[in-house]
Amino acid sequence: MSEVDNKRNTTWVRQVCLVSCFTLLLTGALVPKLFASDLDVFLVKCGNCHKKGAEAAPVNPADKAGLVWKKYFKRNRHPVDLSSTINEAEQEQILAFLEHHAADSEHPVAAIIPK
Ligand code: HEC
Repeated sequence: MSEVDNKRNTTWVRQVCLVSCFTLLLTGALVPKLFASDLDVFLVKCGNCHKKGAEAAPVNPADKAGLVWKKYFKRNRHPVDLSSTINEAEQEQILAFLEHHAADSEHPVAAIIPK
């Protein structure tokens, strides 16, 4: 290998390293925003209607036991159809959040939406 080839190789390696570092940094900064937290999804999707002054009374995970929440959604007990505004993935995310912080959970959350 000639000296010139060698130099070219090192430059190329350096560029690849730079680009990968940059990509890593960028995805590190963006990924958390692409995947909203369970809490955010709950606050946006449920909190929209369920807050003081809005059309429905505030709801909180600790209003019900985990199993009750699960059945509530599995049996479509909600008085308003949510299928057009909350997709299946979001519903699962919200249900996970509700169960995690239900009345009978280890970390009940009773006032994330103020009463
Ligand atoms: C489009 C507005 C809207 C959205 C979005 C919405 N709700 Fe409701 N919800 C209502 C209305 C209206 C009622 C009936 C009035 C009431 O109970 O305050 C209700 C009732 C309820 C009840 C029964 C209240 C009770 O005391 O028994 C629960 C529980 C509930 N919603 C939970 C949720 C959860 C959890 C979400 C998010 C997945 C959600 N809602 C999203 C409008 C909405």
